[in-house]
Amino acid sequence: MSLPTSNGPDGGFSHQAGIRPETRQRIARLIQSLCGIVLGPDKDYLLIHRVIPLAHHAGCSSLDQLCDRLDSQTNPMLREALIEAVTTHETSFFRDAHPWDALKSTILPGLLKTPGRTGKLRIWSAACSSGQEPYSLAMVLTEVCEAVGLEPQAEVSILGTDISERMLVIARSGVYSAAEVKRGMPPQRQQKFLMPCDKGFEVSPKLHSLIRWQRGNLLDNLLGLGRFDLILCRNLLIYLDEPTRKRLVEALASRLEPHGLLLVGAAESIFGLTPKVIQKSIGSTLVYQSV
Ligand SMILES: C[S@@+](CC[C@H](N)C(=O)[O-])C[C@H]1O[C@@H](n2cnc3c(N)ncnc32)[C@H](O)[C@@H]1O
Repeated sequence: MSLPTSNGPDGGFSHQAGIRPETRQRIARLIQSLCGIVLGPDKDYLLIHRVIPLAHHAGCSSLDQLCDRLDSQTNPMLREALIEAVTTHETSFFRDAHPWDALKSTILPGLLKTPGRTGKLRIWSAACSSGQEPYSLAMVLTEVCEAVGLEPQAEVSILGTDISERMLVIARSGVYSAAEVKRGMPPQRQQKFLMPCDKGFEVSPKLHSLIRWQRGNLLDNLLGLGRFDLILCRNLLIYLDEPTRKRLVEALASRLEPHGLLLVGAAESIFGLTPKVIQKSIGSTLVYQSV
């Protein structure tokens, strides 16, 4: 198929400057309605390097044709592929270090001692990408439980969710390359919790058993998930506009137990977005507690 290369009126494929503003707006609106991600002017590389190749691969002759097919609602696979194309899955074990110190020294020991707690602590890593965040949580929780003679399997359950099935396949496998492990994993934890395998390292069965994985769009109704003692939603809010951030933060805050805590990314603040939480600091880590 020959593809248009100039700034045609049909929103045909072309270089960056050639994407018609109406076409750009149309695809940006579609992306935002699907997953909340804002395709700002600085994100044209996503259009050029990911969305246009997707359209090409799907047999569309223009971005407008891709939008028509996405609008027709008859192609859930194409919508999934678009979400995959525009989401950023950057993550690592123990990302940003200081929240993990706060979790280990203060947050998790405090939650384990919640007065009147009868069931397991429920922890949710929302937008967990390829799983490093829930596995980091499982490692710290194991250490905290062991320090006070508790069995983590009896005390805690972790839920890892993401919109990307491709990322969840990696998360469920618990297999990471040596390079991925090297990014953030302290050697002692590596020795304790990971086993060498053909592809690099595999997390231990005990860590696996602490985590349940579920695919989910955080913009959908979250009521079915129940309530949590701790929610981590880190490094997603930065990709959303203010109304969507507010809507998501309200929804997450509603999923907290009365004493529950919410952690967001080190570069993110939810100050003023919901009256349902108050901000507290633990060292240099900000946490938001349900009120
Ligand atoms: C940058 S990663 C953050 C991973 C991890 N929380 C961290 O901080 O390292 C952002 C993740 O959000 C997911 N995501 C984007 N939009 C989403 C949505 N509407 N619902 C659920 N997950 C979403 C992406 O698939 C991606 O894996």
